[in-house]
Amino acid sequence: MSLHIKHLIGLQNVPKEDIEIILKSTKKFKEHFQTSKEKLTDLSGKTIANIFFEDSTRTRTSFELAEKRLSADVLNFSSSSSSLSKGESFKDTVKNIEAMNIDMIVVRHSSAGIPFYLTKYSQSVIINAGDGAHEHPTQGLLDIYTIKEKLGRIKGLNICIVGDIAHSRVALSNLFGLKTLGANVSFCGPSTMIPRDIEKFGAKVYNNIDKAIRENDILNVLRIQLERDAGKNFPSIREYTNYFGITEQRIKNNNENILILHPGPINRGVELSPEVADGNNQVILDQVTNGVAVRMAVLSLLGKN
Ligand code: CP
Repeated sequence: MSLHIKHLIGLQNVPKEDIEIILKSTKKFKEHFQTSKEKLTDLSGKTIANIFFEDSTRTRTSFELAEKRLSADVLNFSSSSSSLSKGESFKDTVKNIEAMNIDMIVVRHSSAGIPFYLTKYSQSVIINAGDGAHEHPTQGLLDIYTIKEKLGRIKGLNICIVGDIAHSRVALSNLFGLKTLGANVSFCGPSTMIPRDIEKFGAKVYNNIDKAIRENDILNVLRIQLERDAGKNFPSIREYTNYFGITEQRIKNNNENILILHPGPINRGVELSPEVADGNNQVILDQVTNGVAVRMAVLSLLGKN
């Protein structure tokens, strides 16, 4: 099994066959590590640089774990403790890291387009670990894998992405990946947080969360990105929570079977009530577990190209 893509920059334009190969490979890696602690040798002899210019808990640790489980040599770069503070440019920083004989680069950056830009002057395989409000493809893939694992299919399911769509990279990766596999994707949130032209992608828009819960099989609830000034898009956090927060009462009133995903980190009590964040409808930690297997699949498959 090999992929058509050479890098993973986003899920837009990734062929259906490639997504299906990644999901199949994810299942194989997950099953292996459920029964064995034995490392695999898929990336033996390869060196991978994880270069993070923005904070991360889940993505960074799960890439590192995935790389180590595949026997890669791993280099972790954090911008906060680097020579960027001395004035070195992004391009010079990456070229210096690459001069150490790197095979793959996993990159997170606050600017959309940085992973694509890297493919233009780097010899390494590039994997996007989240670029600004553009895409977060491995998050999209782990969300898709988790939905398929829980509900048995993707095609024909109704999935609503809720909250701060405007600042989200998870929203677009979910939209592109899920639509490629035949799901119906919609969005729900304050109109100030929904990009004006989003419907051109064939996605329905809800302004009423109760209706969205009633009419969908899955909610993927996004964090309100207060660090990107998202709070300016509505009068107060309390008002956002009153209108769009997911509570046990809303689930009980509208759809007791709804599956709740959240990419993390959660603002407890804002987009999800604490009871929902820990309740029976959510699969948040399953997403995290699956993230390691998804990243193993992506790394292993792109490492073969
Ligand atoms: N979901 C996600 O990308 O989380 P981190 O920012 O912690 O990596």
